Amino acid sequence: MKTTIPSNIGSYEARLKDFSWSIAEKELGYRPGDDINIAWYCTDRICKMGKASKTAFIWEGLGGAEKKYTFNDLRLASNTIASFFKGLGIRREQRVCLFMDRIPELYLGFLGVLKLGAVAQPLFSAFGDESLLVRLENAQTTAVMTTHKHVNKVRKIREKLPHLKHIIVVDDQGKKPLQAGEVAFSLEKAEPVEDFQAAATKAESPSVLHYTSGTTGQPKGVRHVHYSLISQYLTAKWVLDLRDDDMYWCTADPGWVTGTSYGIIGPWSLGVTQCVLDVGFSADAWYQFIEKHKITMWYSAPTAIRSLMKAGEEVVKKHDLSSLRHLASVGEPLNAEAVVWSQRVFGLPFHDSYWQTETGSIMITNLPGMKIKPGSMAKPFPGITATLLDLATFEPMNSTGKVGLIAVRPGWPAMLRGYWNNEEAYKKKFRNGWYLTGDRATIDQDGYFWFVGRDDDVINTAGHLVSPFEVESVLLEHPAVAESAVVSKPDEINMEVVKAFVTLKPGRQPSDDLQLEIMNFIRKKLSPLAMPQEIEFTPSLPKTRSGKIMRRVLKAKEWGQEIGDISTLEND
Ligand code: PRX
Repeated sequence: MKTTIPSNIGSYEARLKDFSWSIAEKELGYRPGDDINIAWYCTDRICKMGKASKTAFIWEGLGGAEKKYTFNDLRLASNTIASFFKGLGIRREQRVCLFMDRIPELYLGFLGVLKLGAVAQPLFSAFGDESLLVRLENAQTTAVMTTHKHVNKVRKIREKLPHLKHIIVVDDQGKKPLQAGEVAFSLEKAEPVEDFQAAATKAESPSVLHYTSGTTGQPKGVRHVHYSLISQYLTAKWVLDLRDDDMYWCTADPGWVTGTSYGIIGPWSLGVTQCVLDVGFSADAWYQFIEKHKITMWYSAPTAIRSLMKAGEEVVKKHDLSSLRHLASVGEPLNAEAVVWSQRVFGLPFHDSYWQTETGSIMITNLPGMKIKPGSMAKPFPGITATLLDLATFEPMNSTGKVGLIAVRPGWPAMLRGYWNNEEAYKKKFRNGWYLTGDRATIDQDGYFWFVGRDDDVINTAGHLVSPFEVESVLLEHPAVAESAVVSKPDEINMEVVKAFVTLKPGRQPSDDLQLEIMNFIRKKLSPLAMPQEIEFTPSLPKTRSGKIMRRVLKAKEWGQEIGDISTLEND
């Protein structure tokens, strides 16, 4: 360990004994029943605490472009955006989608939406129009805030979205014409709004809607509320160990939950400075960014760490990374080699943190000061009761070393409050009084959790969940495709990637040209993350006697694993 400064959490064991979420409530000056508006807490409150002129946000884009914002700038920008939305007639609880690259307007727009009391629906800017359509349709989104680079995708589907009233283009400099029903907004040109009364939202008022993929059906909108702040604030403080003088870098895009819970809400509710780099991955650029901004706390993901490992140590030596004092990781299994490597190369280990879009905040983690067992996610955050349930009975298991389902006792502040318009899917997430994560793990004799894998067919590629159903549905739209099955296959950097098996309609023959044609067809409809790396033509797919495609048989082959029970297989 490089640092001897005591961690924010202090003793884990002591915290476990007297833990209550009221610790966070008190620190935030919140009493049950009060108004609670995340955007107000991230901006106005920090200014009131005397940090108005402190740097809140340093943004860097292509070619070294840089923008800086103080907490007062965040306050004014969110006021101005909220007031602009209000002027358009957008009302509380309506969904406003943020569909942009990681430009400042994404972060400031997010705060503006929340300040107005509307619901922020961030969507990853690489989504194709089909991915966008299902999510905007499901949420009955009122407005989309986007840029010229992405507006065409919204234009293409606009007619199919009767609820979509406003398309706001934030980088319009009057150069490119907008179409009817579109409106330009420039933060730089807008008159800053000094006073804007943040919406008097309450603990259970809706705040953020993130879409996540399951095995069946379309993606689900995970409903979060303003009270989630309580969990996000305290976990950012204790797990990420954020302090007043930190320079924090969260590498996640706010299109995903890490980028909002810990790329906006956590650090800014603590009044901490954060830096954002909006350029593609390169080891040199990343180290350069750390060196230039003297990053102290770095929250990243296993795929990025594995890519850095691949880039080697010479490039590390070219940079002064001595500012780093704490590292954490999320989103996929953090392999033991990555922890050992970072300890050797940076002099610091990556601390694992496990959670989900649905949990809204970190559940199981290697808190600072806790012994690190490389490859283990370590222990539940204080206030989180996590256990393993028997795979068949859903009863808590007591034996160590046996694989079970990770389950959490409901009731932590950031827990999802439902899936948008999908009560049935929400109910399925609970059994015997436990929230089911859908992941499998083991627990060792010290109470450390070891991730085993998902309990469903969802593919986790580079930390992004891909629904096989979504990819299969798009494949089936191609006129030559009769049936499809999508599974994961191993990959050195992304841990797993998407592979599709396809049977063809009578009269169609497998060929390289057809493969290319299908790839091009689905590329326009899917996000790059969900794109299969490989399409394999096959005469038939393994099915149960009732006709259900058995993805696990295909998956087992890809991973060189035992196929398991195939007694229900039809065509063996
Ligand atoms: O399977 C687990 C994996 O990512 C899933 C959640 O994905 P998402 O909702 O997109 O949220 C990702 C960021 C919070 C989990 O169900 N996962 C997440 N963190 C870890 C992990 N798998 C292993 N180790 C982790 N630390």
